[in-house]
Amino acid sequence: MAQIRLDRFLAEHGAGTRSEVKKILRSGRVAVSGVVETRPERKVEPGNDRITLDGRELLWQPFVCLMLHKPAGCITATEDRRQQTVMDLIDHPRKKELFPVGRLDLDTEGLLLLMNDGALAHRMLSPKHHVEKTYFARVAGEVTGEDVEAFRLGVDIGEKELTLPAKLSILRVTDAHTKRSEADCSESEINREQSNREEERNPEEERTHGTHCEDCKCGAGLSQDGAISEVTLTICEGKFHQVKRMFEARGKKVLYLKRISMAGLGLDDALAPGQWRELTKEEMERLQTLC
Ligand code: URA
Repeated sequence: MAQIRLDRFLAEHGAGTRSEVKKILRSGRVAVSGVVETRPERKVEPGNDRITLDGRELLWQPFVCLMLHKPAGCITATEDRRQQTVMDLIDHPRKKELFPVGRLDLDTEGLLLLMNDGALAHRMLSPKHHVEKTYFARVAGEVTGEDVEAFRLGVDIGEKELTLPAKLSILRVTDAHTKRSEADCSESEINREQSNREEERNPEEERTHGTHCEDCKCGAGLSQDGAISEVTLTICEGKFHQVKRMFEARGKKVLYLKRISMAGLGLDDALAPGQWRELTKEEMERLQTLC
């Protein structure tokens, strides 16, 4: 293990910012292998030197993984000159080591993992490993048992092969205008999501999918029958725009998409869009054994 500065080690273990760490060091609260150390520039070897803060050992964690509740409107990339990226939402001492595991579309919300373990990320994304990802989706039109069966058998999304068997569950189907009040619609996530999508629409999309309900933009106008379906879909591959293309293959449009789990890890309900947390030791171990 390479040597790093003591102040960096402390900052990366959550002791504080670099300037807070300098104060902590000056006050003599840090020891390296039993000897008090006050110099921030002191080189230490994580994993070899025993570093304590107030007598408590700080253990070096080689792997870091964060769970982010990605909001709509930011792109899954490490940097971008024009748009907000998921990295802009992260304020973590080891942020520079992290990268997103796979990607979610600009308008997709939900669980996104960011980690520094390239080998694990590779296994999680490899088609060979069939890592399950579950999405909640709101779809224009009535999703039926035939769609469930089609997804189970695989659909043609224009790739060489049909999609792998996927599990579609219908949660509910509502008529956007008779079963939901307009007040509901104007307050709903559907509406927010539709507004978020405005900038992405193009005339070709409007032509093939119809237009919004002009009054409440609830998405009803996007389906022939005015129905909106809420579903979950579990897939074990990750082709570009896969969920949207699978519904397109069935003549239906996804209005709202949120990833709710990946590799057995559920999105933490306590995280609001834009918030993140580190995986617990148990979650990290489970991920490493599972994938
Ligand atoms: N499938 C999609 O269509 N979009 C996503 O962001 C993720 C899966």
